[in-house]
Amino acid sequence: MQNPVTILAIESSCDDTSAAVMVNERVISNIVANQEVHVQYGGVVPELASRSHQANIVPVVDEALRTAKIQKNTLDAVAFTQGPGLLGSLLVGSTFAKGLALGLDKPLIAVNHMEAHILAHFIDGSNVVENMGKPEFPFLCLTVSGGHTQLVLVKSHLEFEVLGETLDDAAGEAFDKGAKLLGLEYPGGPLIDQLAETGNPEAFRFAAPRIEGYNFSFSGLKTSLLYFLQAELKKDKNFITHHLHDLAASYRRVIIRTLTEKLVYTAKKLDIPRVALAGGVSANRLLRREMIRIAGEKNWKIFIPQLAYCTDNAAMIGIAAYYKYQAGIFAGQDTTAQARMHL
Ligand code: KG4
Ligand code: ZN
Repeated sequence: MQNPVTILAIESSCDDTSAAVMVNERVISNIVANQEVHVQYGGVVPELASRSHQANIVPVVDEALRTAKIQKNTLDAVAFTQGPGLLGSLLVGSTFAKGLALGLDKPLIAVNHMEAHILAHFIDGSNVVENMGKPEFPFLCLTVSGGHTQLVLVKSHLEFEVLGETLDDAAGEAFDKGAKLLGLEYPGGPLIDQLAETGNPEAFRFAAPRIEGYNFSFSGLKTSLLYFLQAELKKDKNFITHHLHDLAASYRRVIIRTLTEKLVYTAKKLDIPRVALAGGVSANRLLRREMIRIAGEKNWKIFIPQLAYCTDNAAMIGIAAYYKYQAGIFAGQDTTAQARMHL
């Protein structure tokens, strides 16, 4: 039995302030404060995000510790998201974590947000697919979020190789921008997903971007939706309301098909029968259903995190920090937040 390692983790890369307490791979508490302020602007306003993080961080950390019934001085380490993300937002979390670690005289651990999305698969009880447990190495992970679309070969808890990524918009961005064209609130991804459930995916055809190899491209799809809507709205000014569910279903299908086809292509090419989904867009119902179906057909292992560990959360920062702790990888007080950071 390994000694229990208790880590307080903080995530503040975009518009959710989150703090979690982990003991090894187990979540003891995971508190997320969503920022409603951005809805009225139709997207995340970086300056407002930093201010909200500043207002939220003390109560969120406090609640994470209280829920976990943990005293600060019993922590083994303090972890934070170093990047990638919005610089102002990252600065709030990183400065707070550094101050706390210094005050408590505890080790500090800096975590890459994209690694954390992938490592969420190792949180106890994270996988929703029955009897699948945790992934064995190497496995393929499709990380799809508001800012990233990456196909990653995961070789260990500390070694990642990005095989392909988006050349322009991320999958989540494609959802959110499409939703905006349909007049839906930000973030539109979950709304499109919900509307699509009762729509006909065959109703309309949008241009599916096809890129050779392991990369993706989504910006053409949003333009295809835009031109289509412009033409139809000239004929019927209520076209969107009349066909909202079918539009959502047809648009969703193109994005999800592009993602699943690429994941299947890569798994076959590398002969790796273990595939995983991560990031906010992995909450998508069609993506989850399709990957479970495909994996079942091909007899592949499939790993899909609970919804709470798909979208941004601090538990995933905590699990990533745990492996760094085990490997003795700590950060100094001179570690700075990085808006851009590679795997
Ligand atoms: O990982 P995440 O919470 O934050 C980033 O690091 O970006 O991902 C947020 C993204 C947003 O673009 C949001 O619209 C999308 O995930 N998203 C979804 C769904 N739930 C969240 N997209 C499609 N279907 C969903 N159910
Ligand atoms: Zn994220």
